Amino acid sequence: MPPSRQHRRVPTSCAEYPRNCDAPITCWPHFCASSGPLKSIPAIHSSGIGAHIVGRRVEARAAYEEYQRACPQDAEVEHLLIALRDASPPSRASNTCIEHIYSYFAWFYDYNMCDELEYQATKLLWEALARSLPGRKDLVALDAGCGTGLFGLAIKPATQCLVGVDLSEAMIDQARQRGIYDSLKKAELTEWFSRDPARQYDVIGLCDTLIYFGDLGQVLPAAFKHLKPGGILGFTVEKGEVSPFVFTDSGRFTHHQNHLLAVVDAAGYRVVTQAEDVLRFEYGEAVIGWLTVVERPSAKSLV
Ligand SMILES: C[S@@+](CC[C@H](N)C(=O)[O-])C[C@H]1O[C@@H](n2cnc3c(N)ncnc32)[C@H](O)[C@@H]1O
Repeated sequence: MPPSRQHRRVPTSCAEYPRNCDAPITCWPHFCASSGPLKSIPAIHSSGIGAHIVGRRVEARAAYEEYQRACPQDAEVEHLLIALRDASPPSRASNTCIEHIYSYFAWFYDYNMCDELEYQATKLLWEALARSLPGRKDLVALDAGCGTGLFGLAIKPATQCLVGVDLSEAMIDQARQRGIYDSLKKAELTEWFSRDPARQYDVIGLCDTLIYFGDLGQVLPAAFKHLKPGGILGFTVEKGEVSPFVFTDSGRFTHHQNHLLAVVDAAGYRVVTQAEDVLRFEYGEAVIGWLTVVERPSAKSLV
C-alpha cells in the first residue's frame, strides 16, 4: 500500500532497503543528500516515492525506472510503473507485488492504519454485517485478505469458528500473534476459493482486500459458492467515479457503484445494504468507500 501511506523509515544500508521504513518523509532530503555508491539506489527510490506522493508523475516515473534498472526484482515498483506509464492495467495486483508490499508494511501496518490514518473500515463493515446477524455468537466466518487481523478482531465475538486467509506470510504472522483465528492459511484468494470446500460459511468479510482487484467478477462469484444458503458477505472498496473500475497511481483500484451492483447481481446475490462512508484518511483527505452487504439467498427467501 505504500507509497500512499504517510510515513516510511529511512533505510540505513542498501541491503536493508526497502524493508526498513518508518521515518517521516522530512528525513528523506538528508538521506538523499548522502553520498557513496551503496546509498545511491535507495536515494533514487526515495526520490521516486517523494515525487509520486506529491503527484509529480513524470519525475516519479523517471526515478522509479532508474531504480528498477538496478533493482529489477522490486515487484512493487514494477506495479506502480504500470500506472505511471498509463499502461494496460493488470487484472489484479500480482502475488509477488502483494507479498513484496506487505513483507515490510506488516510490522507497522496497525500503527499506520489505526493511529495515523484513522482506519475505520473494519468497524464499519462489521457494524453493517451485524445488523443482519443480531445477537449471533455461533458464526462460521471467513476473513478473506485478513491481513494482521483487524477485521478478525471486530467479528471474533460473534463467531464459533474464524478462518483467515491472506497471501502475505508477514501479515499472517501478525494475525497469528493475536490468537483469535481457528485457522490461518497463506493463499491467493481466487486460487483458494477454487479449492476450498463449498457452502461452509455463514459470513465472509473482504475488508480493504478488493482494492487490489480490477474486475470483481474474479472474486465475488467464487465467494458465493462458499456461503451457506442465507449466508452473507460484506466487502469494502474505494469509491470510483468512473465505471467500471480504475487502476490508480496508488497501485490500487477504485470501483464504480454500477460495477459492484452488476457483479453481485450476476453472481446471484441479493443486496442487503450499500452505503458510502469514510474508510480512512490519506494525506489529510478522506478516502471514501462503498460498504456493501449481500446475501446468498436461501430457498425460502427466493419464494
Ligand atoms: C489493506 S490490507 C487489509 C487487511 C485487513 N482485511 C484489514 O482490513 O486490515 C489488504 C490485504 O489483502 C491481502 N491480499 C491482497 N491481494 C490478495 C490476494 N489476491 N489473495 C489473498 N490476499 C490478498 C494483502 O496481503 C493484505 O493483507
